[in-house]
Amino acid sequence: MKKPKWMKGEGIINTDSKVGRGTKIWHYVILFKCKIGKNCIVGSHSEIGGIVGDNCKIGHGVFIPRGAEIEDEVFIGPKACFTNDRFPKAVGDWSITPTYVRKGASIGANVTIRCGVTIGRNSLVGCGAVVTKDVPDNAVVVGNPARPIERKLEHMKVGYAFVVGDLLHCGHLNFFEECRKHCNFLIVGVYTDELAMTYKRKPIITFNHRLRLISALRVVDMVVTVGNKDCTPMLKKLTKAGWKISFLFHGDDWKHVKGTKYIESIGGRLIQPKYFKETNTTMIVKKIRSEHN
Ligand SMILES: CC(C)(COP(=O)(O)OP(=O)(O)OC[C@H]1O[C@@H](n2cnc3c(N)ncnc32)[C@H](O)[C@@H]1OP(=O)(O)O)[C@@H](O)C(=O)NCCC(=O)NCCS
Repeated sequence: MKKPKWMKGEGIINTDSKVGRGTKIWHYVILFKCKIGKNCIVGSHSEIGGIVGDNCKIGHGVFIPRGAEIEDEVFIGPKACFTNDRFPKAVGDWSITPTYVRKGASIGANVTIRCGVTIGRNSLVGCGAVVTKDVPDNAVVVGNPARPIERKLEHMKVGYAFVVGDLLHCGHLNFFEECRKHCNFLIVGVYTDELAMTYKRKPIITFNHRLRLISALRVVDMVVTVGNKDCTPMLKKLTKAGWKISFLFHGDDWKHVKGTKYIESIGGRLIQPKYFKETNTTMIVKKIRSEHN
């Protein structure tokens, strides 16, 4: 019988599972009614009954039972063990308590995860930890029970974007999400009313409200106040405060982004995600004016 492409090794047991394109599965793996996304690697002697997203790397001897849901780009070290029944017993009923691992998280070798927790985006669970509580986005946790330790800057890819952020809409969100594909810590500079008025209009939403709304977004890790269209002073200030900024972001509607030279001088680069023409503040303002005059 011809082996499916994903079957790299011998002895794979597959019961009603779905495996995405480009995923490779090594020797002696049990797949039990699971769903694995595209371009993943599953190490040998693992058992999977849960849901795994795209581009995940799963080490050898990992146990991911039904009830565990793992998003895209998650790393799971060798011998990591998820659980799904909080009060297990050999005889009688059992019930599943779900566990979630958010995008970009990394789980070290030999980690045990008690069911019912959520492991946050881009977080890192140190090897040997026992996770009993939710792990916040971007946190590093270690030990038994796992507790956060300070996240070292060298583990982080930090990006800086800046916006007026008036009438917060999906165009802003799309932009931040694009930025977040390149970094795991996003600092967003929010223009003051005075700065915005130098080249656009007076924002409709006050500065404090724009700041609050943007900092409440899950994709934004930190906000700073910006009073200068040239990003160089802010990038210098952040660098001086200990941040190692790797990326400066602005939509591709700007040809020259002031601050590019500086970001390159500190080993970073400018990234210009596609500007979302379909949704922008100017368009919304025009629409309100035309439809509600
Ligand atoms: C969590 C981790 C990323 C921290 O690395 P780091 O930032 O270089 O941290 P340090 O080594 O400076 O340790 C900071 C403190 O946390 C403790 N610590 C670090 N990792 C720990 C762990 N896994 N369990 C318990 N304590 C740990 C250190 O002992 C140190 O404590 P101290 O301040 O009291 O001396 C790293 O130790 C780790 O566990 N990486 C995962 C490795 C892994 O499983 N890889 C899988 C692929 S094989």
